[in-house]
Amino acid sequence: MTKISDIILSFFKGIARSRVSLVGAMITTVTFPFLLGLVIIDSWMHIDNPYMGAIIYMTLGPAFIAGLVMVFIGLFFLKGKEEVRLFTLTYLQEHFADDTRFNRVRKLIFLGVLLTSINFVVFGLLGYSGYHYLESNSFCGQFCHTVMNPEYTAYQNSPHSKVHCVDCHIGSGATWFAKSKISGARQLFAVALNTYPRPIHTPVHGLRPASDTCAECHRPDKFHGDKLNVIEKYEEDEENTNLKTVMLMKIGSAGSGTDKPHGIHWHVAEENSISYKADPNRMIIPEVTLTKADGSTVVYRSEDAADVIAEEGHELEDRTMDCIDCHNRPTHIYRQAATAVDEEITKGVIDRSIPFIKRQAMEAVTQKFSSQDDAMAGIENSLRNWYKENYPDLDQAKLDNSIAGAQNAYAKNVFPEMNLEWGTYVNHIGHGAEFDIGCFRCHDGTHESEAGEAISADCTTCHTVLAEDEEDPEILQVMQGE
Ligand code: HEC
Ligand code: HEC
Ligand code: HEC
Ligand code: HEC
Ligand code: HEC
Repeated sequence: MTKISDIILSFFKGIARSRVSLVGAMITTVTFPFLLGLVIIDSWMHIDNPYMGAIIYMTLGPAFIAGLVMVFIGLFFLKGKEEVRLFTLTYLQEHFADDTRFNRVRKLIFLGVLLTSINFVVFGLLGYSGYHYLESNSFCGQFCHTVMNPEYTAYQNSPHSKVHCVDCHIGSGATWFAKSKISGARQLFAVALNTYPRPIHTPVHGLRPASDTCAECHRPDKFHGDKLNVIEKYEEDEENTNLKTVMLMKIGSAGSGTDKPHGIHWHVAEENSISYKADPNRMIIPEVTLTKADGSTVVYRSEDAADVIAEEGHELEDRTMDCIDCHNRPTHIYRQAATAVDEEITKGVIDRSIPFIKRQAMEAVTQKFSSQDDAMAGIENSLRNWYKENYPDLDQAKLDNSIAGAQNAYAKNVFPEMNLEWGTYVNHIGHGAEFDIGCFRCHDGTHESEAGEAISADCTTCHTVLAEDEEDPEILQVMQGE
């Protein structure tokens, strides 16, 4: 009767006879304890370091698997069959025919099953945690730190900071997961070879339709009524005068059977489909087609549509409108300088009681810098020097806070390392300074159908402006019962 130790011995002998197996066995043995330990720690305690994940799932894991494959190849293919008597068909036939040897085979199978089960556990853990790692915010947002820094920073400051990157960028299902990893592999090369675009191109042409992502959480068909918006601004005068704009946004509804689609979310009602032609930046839209519930269509063309189509026809993209055509910055929200500074004043970080602080903060944050570190120092110097010269008795604690506020405004919105300046990425959900042309890409009054109807540019189509840039709007007093 053969002992189990003999079998193990012959297994190792088999490995020793092939160099490939030997190298494979060495790799497997060295990586195994680290891998197992880290995978278990990661599964239980979630290591929150992006590089740790990369070490486990992109280096140790593949090395371990490669080692195993090498052992296997070496054992079975690279040496004469008579030398490697383990698990080969002739070997099994020989041994099964002989009763006395049956015991040995049983132990061999037992050993095989045992080793395989351990490997299955390791593979399972690897696959499971690896999948989660590749879906994690830390992989998406932090692994390629400089590259994703703007998107990750903006995301962390947004209403969606608790939503995972993958919920909007990939959604559920295996197809989009695979697609994203294929394009991800290409992106890894771009990062490794330093050939990625700065800033990253937008719009994202391969983004999954919003019906599979945003609509998993939001239902504009259930919206109704208007929404009150109060926009706060500050003038660049000595008092930093606070101005308020009050408006009712006609949010409307995408229609829910009881409610007819109307207002702003009318575009995404099931019974309407709006498609358009646009340049690759989706800023120039010469032609819009509305398909109604009964299948009839209305085509709206801008004044210069014929010229644009003739000149750029081959470059124009055909697209069906969804959430992203308005909400293109639901989470990567970059402000213009004035809005960013205003926000810090509204939050009370920049102190409004400091004379001319809006104007001086604007001057400080709109300078050109070569990196965020430079900017932090530059903004501080600019503000300190000016106030030292002009208001030497100023409360220094207030000034310190305000400097931090101005630095915040810059750090959340401008990323010189990625060539992201103020306003590089435009937001479509409005019009005017903060938004560029936004809605007016279509609603500019020049997009007309053949029957002469224009896409509405009427100021009351989308909102009712109740007060515009007023110091103490009466309407707010009324609403607050004053
Ligand atoms: C709430 C949904 C949502 C989440 C969460 C989200 N994104 Fe985005 N992301 C978008 C949309 C929408 C766009 C722009 C689409 C367009 O205009 O084509 C975008 C664009 C981008 C771009 C292209 C550059 C740009 O700003 O247009 C990158 C890179 C990016 N996202 C990375 C990330 C990373 C990394 C995370 C997680 C840290 C993340 N995104 C989380 C919705 C999301
Ligand atoms: C995983 C769920 C989820 C997904 C996917 C998601 N959102 Fe949201 N969204 C939320 C939650 C939760 C909030 C509320 C956040 C809060 O107010 O704290 C929100 C808030 C919003 C708001 C209001 C923001 C504000 O300033 O108050 C808008 C607009 C929005 N989402 C649009 C989108 C768009 C467009 C997409 C697709 C690109 C999307 N969301 C994808 C969960 C999601
Ligand atoms: C035609 C442009 C447009 C489209 C398309 C659009 N939205 Fe909106 N959405 C808006 C505007 C404008 C607002 C109001 C923003 C504001 O408060 O200033 C808004 C508000 C919202 C809000 C916040 C509602 C609230 O009560 O605060 C959510 C959530 C939202 N949209 C989700 C979506 C989703 C999901 C889709 C796609 C199914 C979508 N929107 C399509 C323009 C659009
Ligand atoms: C791709 C072109 C396009 C863009 C971009 C667009 N719209 Fe529209 N919108 C249309 C078309 C087409 C109509 C239908 C014609 C009309 O009613 O004037 C329409 C109609 C509307 C209506 C009237 C809906 C109703 O009750 O009948 C509102 C409100 C509206 N849009 C708001 C917005 C807002 C707000 C934005 C920007 C956040 C926006 N739209 C961006 C194409 C567009
Ligand atoms: C197609 C829809 C649409 C039309 C038409 C439209 N607006 Fe707007 N408007 C918006 C949206 C969306 C916003 C952004 C609200 C926000 O900041 O949340 C906005 C914002 C504004 C603001 C506030 C801007 C700020 O930041 O202070 C004013 C003022 C304004 N609109 C005036 C007008 C006037 C005047 C007209 C007519 C010439 C007009 N709008 C036509 C959709 C529209």
